[in-house]
Amino acid sequence: MKKYRVVQWATGVVGSSALRGILRHPRLELAGVKVYSEDKEGRDAGDLIGAGKTGIVATRDVDAILALDADCVLYCPLPWDLGEICRLLESGVHVITPCPYWFPFVQSPDVAAAINVACKQGNVNMHASGCNPGGIAERFPLTFSGWCNQIDRITMTECGDCTSYSSEGVMRELMNLGKTPDAARNNPLKAMLAKSWYEPIDMIADGLGTHVVSYAAKHDFILAAEPIETAVGTLEKDTIALNHYQHIGTTAAGTVITQEQIWFVGGTEQKQLQAKMDIPRESGWRISLEGDVNLNVDVDFPPELSHDERVAQGLSTTAFHLVNAVPLVCEAPDPGIKTHLDLPMVTGCMGTDASAR
Ligand SMILES: NC(=O)c1ccc[n+]([C@@H]2O[C@H](COP(=O)([O-])OP(=O)(O)OC[C@H]3O[C@@H](n4cnc5c(N)ncnc54)[C@H](OP(=O)(O)O)[C@@H]3O)[C@@H](O)[C@H]2O)c1
Repeated sequence: MKKYRVVQWATGVVGSSALRGILRHPRLELAGVKVYSEDKEGRDAGDLIGAGKTGIVATRDVDAILALDADCVLYCPLPWDLGEICRLLESGVHVITPCPYWFPFVQSPDVAAAINVACKQGNVNMHASGCNPGGIAERFPLTFSGWCNQIDRITMTECGDCTSYSSEGVMRELMNLGKTPDAARNNPLKAMLAKSWYEPIDMIADGLGTHVVSYAAKHDFILAAEPIETAVGTLEKDTIALNHYQHIGTTAAGTVITQEQIWFVGGTEQKQLQAKMDIPRESGWRISLEGDVNLNVDVDFPPELSHDERVAQGLSTTAFHLVNAVPLVCEAPDPGIKTHLDLPMVTGCMGTDASAR
């Protein structure tokens, strides 16, 4: 079977896990590593993740990455850059990312058009995946919708104690944790963040053969009662320590689709917060479908895992979903954006013995 030459682009929390996944995947070969930090430049890829030497040295030079003539880039930076994504695609390399755009056709038709033009020029595909969005938010509810007939409501709830998530950008900018209420309300990323939840809602609607006729968003939060220590430093008293987001789309067929996140720090007991909310479950996800069939699908990590292990494995699911998609994305016909509605089922492919197939 053909092997694909893959570049790991950015080696933060998700990118490091993806790099580990590339090195172990029997159908992938590491072609290069793009980093941003000066102190990572020139280091062997294996050293960056505590693995053996690979002979592949990390670089900050985009032209050097383009010159590799790789098949695919796993694009995992923060912030991401549409122009950069298009440049990669135009150069003839497939792009898979945990960043937007999962289903941009409704929320950002201009972006979708630009990506599709770049894909056509490079004769390649672009696919956005991940854990949530990219899995829980749309791929898995759509799968379970096949068990149902009349569907009144689909609700995805993510509950996450993020105390040990070490991405400063995700925690403070995307999740709004540690911000004052005013700063959260005025976060310049607010509209973009809303689109990140409306995109999977649009994908579900499309998968159900309908479209969204109205959107709504709700945001509640609880402040820290005292300073709270986290992996990205201290979240100060009177800043946001729990966010409760809901993004809702109602389809022409009447199905109400809700993406709900409860992101917090300091533990489920919420002892360091100024108020408490009823958190429906510990870290993990519930996909709920209501109609003539009523399903609750709970996705959890085993209780014996430590909090840190649960966070790390949750982020690995994002990374491995990207890694496992590489052959399918590289082989998908008709260059363009490939959503989960376009690709065959993304599966894992390795047993305990990585050398045996
Ligand atoms: N869909 C999902 O389920 C899901 C889940 C989690 C995260 N994500 C997304 O995945 C991406 C990576 O998340 P993460 O947790 O790995 O974040 P992270 O730990 O903060 O890593 C981001 C990386 O981006 C690179 N970087 C630094 N400065 C940059 C700049 N100015 N411009 C562009 N890149 C820069 C760095 O790479 P080097 O360290 O190599 O220098 C950094 O480690 C984010 O965009 C996040 O939103 C998606």
